[in-house]
Amino acid sequence: MANSHHSLSLLLLFLLFLSTPTHQHQSVAAEQQQQQQDEEESDNPITRFRNYLRINTAHPNPDYSSAVSYLLSEANLLGLHSQILHFTPSKSKPLLLLSWPGSDPSLPSILLNSHLDSVPAEPSKWAHPPFSAAKSPDGRIFARGAQDDKCIGIQYLEAIRNLKSKNFWPIRTVHLSYVPDEEIGGFDGAAKFTASEEFRTLNVGFLLDEGQANPGEEFRVFYADRCPWNLVIRAQGMPGHGSRMYDNSAMENLMKSVEMITRFRDSQFDIVKAGKAANSEVVSVNPVYLKAGIPSPTGFVMNMQPSEAEAGFDVRLPPTADPDILRKKISEEWAPAVRNMTYEVIEKGPSRDYLGRPLMTLTNDSNPWWPVFNKAIAAVGGKLAKPEILPSTTDARYIRQLGIPALGFSPMTNTPILLHDHNEV
Ligand SMILES: *[C@@H]1O[C@H](CO)[C@@H](O)[C@H](O)[C@H]1NC(C)=O
Ligand SMILES: *[C@@H]1O[C@H](CO)[C@@H](O)[C@H](O)[C@H]1NC(C)=O
Ligand SMILES: [Zn+2]
Repeated sequence: MANSHHSLSLLLLFLLFLSTPTHQHQSVAAEQQQQQQDEEESDNPITRFRNYLRINTAHPNPDYSSAVSYLLSEANLLGLHSQILHFTPSKSKPLLLLSWPGSDPSLPSILLNSHLDSVPAEPSKWAHPPFSAAKSPDGRIFARGAQDDKCIGIQYLEAIRNLKSKNFWPIRTVHLSYVPDEEIGGFDGAAKFTASEEFRTLNVGFLLDEGQANPGEEFRVFYADRCPWNLVIRAQGMPGHGSRMYDNSAMENLMKSVEMITRFRDSQFDIVKAGKAANSEVVSVNPVYLKAGIPSPTGFVMNMQPSEAEAGFDVRLPPTADPDILRKKISEEWAPAVRNMTYEVIEKGPSRDYLGRPLMTLTNDSNPWWPVFNKAIAAVGGKLAKPEILPSTTDARYIRQLGIPALGFSPMTNTPILLHDHNEV
């Protein structure tokens, strides 16, 4: 098995070499020379990266077809096999699947995933138009999607280009998926893809997906996502005159819950503040809306206590939290029927794999891919930070749900975290 992991090791090595196209740590003279060189050569990794960035795949109207055409033309030049898959009747959300067949296709394959789409940008708040891929003299490339996550989509291709130029032939087949809609939940993208017959036939043994940059020296790697829950609690109570004090109004019932939830939130946040856990390792509960009151033409009726009140919370569960315990807490403490409350939890993704195990990839020797990953980082003289849980979610959760090990890895060190921010570089 160790030998056949060699292809992943080499691939990672090249990813790491290619990991800093937007951040060059060079003297000014060397930078200018580099820039000149870039301008002279019309086709190099940086120009290919910039071409990809110039395709506006931001929501709400991502130009998927141009992005797929561009990547497909690059893949054809590299002699990769390709398929365009559709999981919507309108075929407006293509998924590009590329394959580099290995010498032993019977072995489980490696899948390199990235998403085509990005979040919107507010051009007026940017130093350069967000789809210009403008390059500053110090080598920074300004574009929405530069970090999240077109950098890895291009790096995968460049790593293959380099390996091919050295006549390397992988033992395992390497697949690349460019998926739509990650930023809006992946329901018509990775969710349907991983549930498809096409995916099953790929026989995926390991996945690399997006991670995050690090302002420091170490590479960050993510072994799990948190699972988002949308929690809505509703209270009912007797309506009454605003001047009257009585028990069990809807507002009182709701406020009792809000206080309890706030105490729970504090208990989790205290763990973080005490340095005992990272933000992403605890359950976060944040109030996002309150809905109550009887509307009037000038605002709300002030002398009436309403009969209904509602609050919404964004809840995030790390894979170490027990979803059943939290559900029990919600039904018994946060929205108990005895206080005339009801609730609704919408789980925005799986929290357990198909065998009921927490959705996380082991980062020890029990996972045969982990030492290979580690070795590849060490081979380029890189340092790896303590493996982390991602505070938000990515498409990797759908792969982990199938019990397939998946690591989130966007190799960017000494780089500010600018995903979803203005002036992403
Ligand atoms: C719940 O509703 C019932 C029926 O309206 C009422 O008798 C009771 O006092 C309420 N209890 C609370 C805690 O609001
Ligand atoms: C790896 O971690 C898992 C979960 O913490 C544990 O059950 C397993 O024994 C560990 N394996 C090794 C080789 O340390
Ligand atoms: Zn992303």
